Amino acid sequence: MSNIAVLGAMWGDEGKGHITHRLSRDYDWVIRFNGGANAGHTIYRDGVKFVHNLLPSVDFRHANTKAYLGSGMVIDLEKLRDEVVEADRTYPGVGKRIYVDKDAFIVEHKHKDEDKATNAHIGSTNRGIGPAYKEKINRSGKRIGDLLTNLNHPKDSPYADVLKELRSKGLMFTTVLEIEDAFRASNLLFEGAQGVLLDINHGIYPYVSCSDATVGGIIASGFAFAKLDRVYGVAKCCTTKVGEGPFPTELHGEAADDLRKLGNEFGATTGRPRRVGWLDLAALTYACKKGGITHLILTKFDILNGMPKVPVAVMYKKTPFSPADFFNAVPLTTEVAGWEDAKDYSQLKDFISLVEKFTKRPVGFISCGTDEKDITNWAA
Ligand code: IMP
Ligand code: MG
Repeated sequence: MSNIAVLGAMWGDEGKGHITHRLSRDYDWVIRFNGGANAGHTIYRDGVKFVHNLLPSVDFRHANTKAYLGSGMVIDLEKLRDEVVEADRTYPGVGKRIYVDKDAFIVEHKHKDEDKATNAHIGSTNRGIGPAYKEKINRSGKRIGDLLTNLNHPKDSPYADVLKELRSKGLMFTTVLEIEDAFRASNLLFEGAQGVLLDINHGIYPYVSCSDATVGGIIASGFAFAKLDRVYGVAKCCTTKVGEGPFPTELHGEAADDLRKLGNEFGATTGRPRRVGWLDLAALTYACKKGGITHLILTKFDILNGMPKVPVAVMYKKTPFSPADFFNAVPLTTEVAGWEDAKDYSQLKDFISLVEKFTKRPVGFISCGTDEKDITNWAA
């Protein structure tokens, strides 16, 4: 059996959804293990754009691949219902291929209200993520399993209707141990949400989300038995970030506007304009080490078509060893030969060699556009 993980290597929005969707057909399960509806995974399927916030980025055209929402997630059940209804419209009966871990905690309305009231300084997506994890850690959270137990007393459960709807669409509520044998006999693809620099432990605290976005999140969700053959970290050939906090290679003014326009860098979940800058190999190397990333996937080469030289920060004056080292970091930048057309892969060699040299990680795949045909096995 072969298991892999696809993690965000930077601040999220690197194109994990696009990559996961393309790779998913070779796997039996695509498993989300962290975060909630703060994630926005954009997928183009047959030319149509889908944004998944909670559902793993499964290519549902391939009947054998199933989706699992793991126990490390915090789940807004109404949001999940809306996504399932939408997916079911395109792929009738798809709910039978969606499994939800009963040990996952839920996001309630009060969590979203608290986010709005208290987390603007972080730039929260206001999806209730922090407050839901806070209650979990405080040992006062609600698990999906608790709600299912209460279903026999519908008056007590404001979630009875939404859970019934999810069940009527065929969703299975289970746990890793209940179906461990099936997992062990399967090829598993673990899909991270957010990115290592937003991880609660290793991201640039306090400007982080509240979940485990590294390989640690896979083990924490009950999959310690799943040996990973490769851990892919996905990064763009430039860098973007939504929300507040240090961003050492950030561009400002017209240069930022131009790059934002080229990459159409607006949040998939919130629509906010993303902060933009050049690729940061100091941050990427830190993320590879902290995240457990063994291989890289680089995306969005097409947006820089026609630039004669591409700036890249190769290191900081002082190597970052801890989140604190990103505050006031001074990037040292070089320029590498650009490309006229990213689809002429020979033109990307200098850029990719530079990334491999500084991160000491091989590049496995690259992506030059939103279609699945634009993803290429670079290593092959
Ligand atoms: P929260 O997870 O909504 O509380 O947001 C905390 C920080 O993480 C904010 O800066 C958000 O913009 C950022 N964030 C959360 N989820 C994502 C994501 O999926 N992509 C990019 N940024 C994210
Ligand atoms: Mg996103």
